[in-house]
Amino acid sequence: MPADYTPATIADVRRLRDALEQEGKKLVFTNGCFDLLHAGHVRYLEQARALGDAMVVALNSDQSVRVLKGPDRPLNHQNDRAEVLAALRAVDAVVVFDDERATTLIESIRPHVYAKGGDYTVDSLNREERIALENAGTEIRILPLVPGRSTTSTINKMLGGNDTCTGSLRIAVLGSGEGSNLRAIIAALQSGALNAEIALTLSDQADSNFLKIARASGLPAQFVDGGSNPRRLSDAAQKEIFEHLERARVDVVVLAGFMRILKEPVISAYAGRIVNVHPSLLPNHKGANAPQLSIDAGDRETGCTVHLVTAEIDAGRILAQAKVAVLPGDTAETLHARIKIEEHKLLPQVLNEWRERGLPVRGAVTS
Ligand code: GAR
Repeated sequence: MPADYTPATIADVRRLRDALEQEGKKLVFTNGCFDLLHAGHVRYLEQARALGDAMVVALNSDQSVRVLKGPDRPLNHQNDRAEVLAALRAVDAVVVFDDERATTLIESIRPHVYAKGGDYTVDSLNREERIALENAGTEIRILPLVPGRSTTSTINKMLGGNDTCTGSLRIAVLGSGEGSNLRAIIAALQSGALNAEIALTLSDQADSNFLKIARASGLPAQFVDGGSNPRRLSDAAQKEIFEHLERARVDVVVLAGFMRILKEPVISAYAGRIVNVHPSLLPNHKGANAPQLSIDAGDRETGCTVHLVTAEIDAGRILAQAKVAVLPGDTAETLHARIKIEEHKLLPQVLNEWRERGLPVRGAVTS
């Protein structure tokens, strides 16, 4: 039997880099866990390799993967992961590193180009890594994520998750406020009307009733500091949310009164798997304060919408709607309270349908 694969050493890679430089060529550096290789990885590595003339992949050791991804990972031993990676056309060398960060490696290797997957932005790169890259004169390139392909979704399929339409749907519920929709989902789970598992609840408001309900129900609950702008999430918060979702092996992300705008990397990584509940009959009255906008517009009828989330606010595909009459003398509060009664039925219904038949394709339903 052939001996186990031996990864390259830092000295090997530094020699490769210097030899390339003498010929006016460039070494590309990238890093990651590459636990279960899939087409998304291969495409990403091909794109990264095209930025220079040779590429080294710094592979997280088993110990650092455990720190980053949780105790169940990696699935494959570091030398096996290195061997599979090294067999790819795009990869010229693989080094294994033990830290969570690649700072020391960057300082020793001084690559010409540093490539990173699109779950980062230049601003959300680790500060130390970024300083090491700047000191080495390395060009930083962020490459887009390949949507719909991830180690987590592959693992979920193997475990009989949503992708195979069997087993229970693992959902994450994100909210900022009162948490009445979260309570409705929990009630639907308890009554058996919804067969799913809340794998994560997450809020940008530390003192929210939403988090209190989650904790009182014994659910995994996370607070993420979104930053100073109440409608936006800082790049660091976007990334932190992504990491929580990945760790919880979530099939579907449910925005139940989450009042900040989700962007990359979550939007691409969970494309077609993020739903939002909104208190109007979209496309009418997008954004905040929809019940008040309905009253101001003189609507005689409004309602709620469950829709897919895309980069454009409240504009993704409509999955289901319920109508609510606007009554004479309604205030935003009285109207919103009646809309919520419909939301509490509609959201669990959409999620259950999703579990049973895959993504719902229905148009409007009425109350
Ligand atoms: C819900 O009415 C939901 O539709 C709305 O926030 C409320 C949250 O209530 N969402 C939006 O306005 C998003 N644009 P809850 O915290 O009691 O579930």
